[in-house]
Amino acid sequence: MKIFLDSANIDQVRQAKALGTIEGVTTNPSLLSKEKGDWKKIVRQICKEIDGPVSVEVISTESQAMLAEARDLVKIAPNIVIKVPMTLEGLKTISELHNQGIDTNATLVFSPNQALLAAKAGATYVSPFIGRLDDIGQDGMQVIQDIMTVFRNYDLSTQVLAASIRHTNHFFQAAILGADAITIPLPVLFDLAKHPLTDIGLAKFMNDWATR
Ligand code: E4P
Repeated sequence: MKIFLDSANIDQVRQAKALGTIEGVTTNPSLLSKEKGDWKKIVRQICKEIDGPVSVEVISTESQAMLAEARDLVKIAPNIVIKVPMTLEGLKTISELHNQGIDTNATLVFSPNQALLAAKAGATYVSPFIGRLDDIGQDGMQVIQDIMTVFRNYDLSTQVLAASIRHTNHFFQAAILGADAITIPLPVLFDLAKHPLTDIGLAKFMNDWATR
């Protein structure tokens, strides 16, 4: 499972990179709008820090305008992936970008049907939003499992990118299901490294060494 950082903050990207476990970054308009300064400069910095894919979302809702944005975005860096909302206009955009050999990430995916259409249109990734489904009382992880079954049934190469991750159990469940990739906020990345027995064990080693 590839691990991406879900952030538009360059300090967070650097902190995650230092751990050697991050293979890409996903941003979205909400995350980028929290950052101060020129958003293109921020995206360029993130793309320089990370060798892998960096998803940046279009903000238009009509396909021709999305395509114009995409043309502009791909000039920022070679590792940009165009994030496109899962709408009818988004599908047109994904299809056209696929024809042009440009990688896409279909975002705001909440059902296997949406994921299948995005894959047919040629999306490189689909991003099912697990946490937001859980928030409304549905089982987000079940949607990941169903999408993976559908993609396997038809041997589709589109990668399932588990998104809207809230906690370490989401991470574990996505890994057990064999999701191709997951995007996580920095606090979740830090939590993944922790275990109380590690802390207790380390304290004992330190104490035994100090009192030898
Ligand atoms: C992923 O691509 C999205 O940016 C993100 O995971 C959304 O997460 P949220 O539901 O916590 O906003």
